[in-house]
Amino acid sequence: MVGTKIDGVLVASSVKERVRKAASELKSQGIEPCLATILVGDNQASATYVKNKHKACAEVGILTKDHKLPATTSQEEMNELLGTLNSDNSIHGILVQLPLPKQLGEFETTSRISPIKDVDGLTPYNVGLLSLGKAILKACTPSGIIELFDYYNIDLEGKNIVIINRSNLLGKPLYHLLLQRNATVTTCHSKTKNLQKICQDSDIIITGVGNRTRFTLTPEMIRDGAIVIDVATTRHDEKLVGDCDFDKIIQKAAFASPVPGGVGPMTIAMLLKNTVTAASLSENIVRR
Ligand SMILES: NC(=O)c1ccc[n+]([C@@H]2O[C@H](COP(=O)([O-])OP(=O)(O)OC[C@H]3O[C@@H](n4cnc5c(N)ncnc54)[C@H](OP(=O)(O)O)[C@@H]3O)[C@@H](O)[C@H]2O)c1
Repeated sequence: MVGTKIDGVLVASSVKERVRKAASELKSQGIEPCLATILVGDNQASATYVKNKHKACAEVGILTKDHKLPATTSQEEMNELLGTLNSDNSIHGILVQLPLPKQLGEFETTSRISPIKDVDGLTPYNVGLLSLGKAILKACTPSGIIELFDYYNIDLEGKNIVIINRSNLLGKPLYHLLLQRNATVTTCHSKTKNLQKICQDSDIIITGVGNRTRFTLTPEMIRDGAIVIDVATTRHDEKLVGDCDFDKIIQKAAFASPVPGGVGPMTIAMLLKNTVTAASLSENIVRR
C-alpha cells in the first residue's frame, strides 16, 4: 500500500486565500493589517526566515515593519522597542525571530509582547488560554498541523496520537489542540522509554526531533495505515530532511507529510492568519 502525501503547499495556499480575503475586508473598513518583525544579530538562517515571512505577508496584503537590531542589543533596549510596538495602534502583530543572542532571555522577551499582538501565541497569557481551550491566537506550527488534518478529513476523535517533542513551540501547544479534538495524546521526548512500542501502538505519529543521529522514525516503528506528520527540519547529508525518509514511510502509512513541503508552509500560513485575526482583535471585530 502506498499512502497519500499530505501536501502542505496546497493546504497553505488555501489558508492564504482565506487570509487574503480577510485582509481585503479589513482594508475596506479602513484597517491595514500590519506585522512588525524584530530580528536581532546577523544569523543568516533567521534573516532568511524573516525575509520569507515578509514576502508571504506582501502576497496576501499584510503590511510589514522590519526592525533589525544589533547582536549586542540589551534586554532594556528590546523591552523598550516592544513597549513602543505594543502601544502603536498601526501595528497588529509582533514577531520576535528566535533564537535570540545569549544576553536576551526568550521568556523575558516574548512575555513582553501584548497578548493581542502575540501572533506566535507564545505569551504566558495566550499559552494559558490555550490550555483552557479559549485561545484565539495559537502557536503557528501546531495550529498548522490541525489545519492539515482538517483539510484531509482526518478525524482525531478517539485516536491514539504520539507527539515526539515537548518544546513550548511545538509539543506542548499541540498536546492541547489534539486533546481539544478528543484524541488520546502521549507526549514523548529524549528520556522516553520504549518509544518504538509507543509509536507502533499509535494511530498518528507527529515527530519533531530534528536530529537524525539521535532519532530517525523508520517504517518498522509504525503500524500499517498509520498517519505520520514530520515536523522536523534539519540538514543531513547536505539535504533538508525531517525525522523520517518520506519515500520509505509512505509505503506503509495511510498519510504522511514530506519535508520540505509538509508542515513548513503551514507555519507561515498560520502566522498570516494570526496577523489578520490580531488586526480584527485590535478593532474589536473578533470578541474574546
Ligand atoms: N516546519 C516548521 O515550521 C517547524 C516549526 C518548528 C520546529 N520545526 C523543527 O522541529 C524540530 C524541533 O524543533 P523545536 O524547536 O521543538 O526543537 P527542540 O526544542 O530541540 O525539541 C526537540 C525535541 O525532541 C526531543 N528529542 C531529542 N532527542 C530525542 C530522542 N532521541 N528521542 C525522542 N525525542 C527526542 C527533545 O526531548 P527533550 O525535551 O528531552 O530534550 C525535544 O522535546 C526542529 O527540527 C525544527 O527545525 C519545524
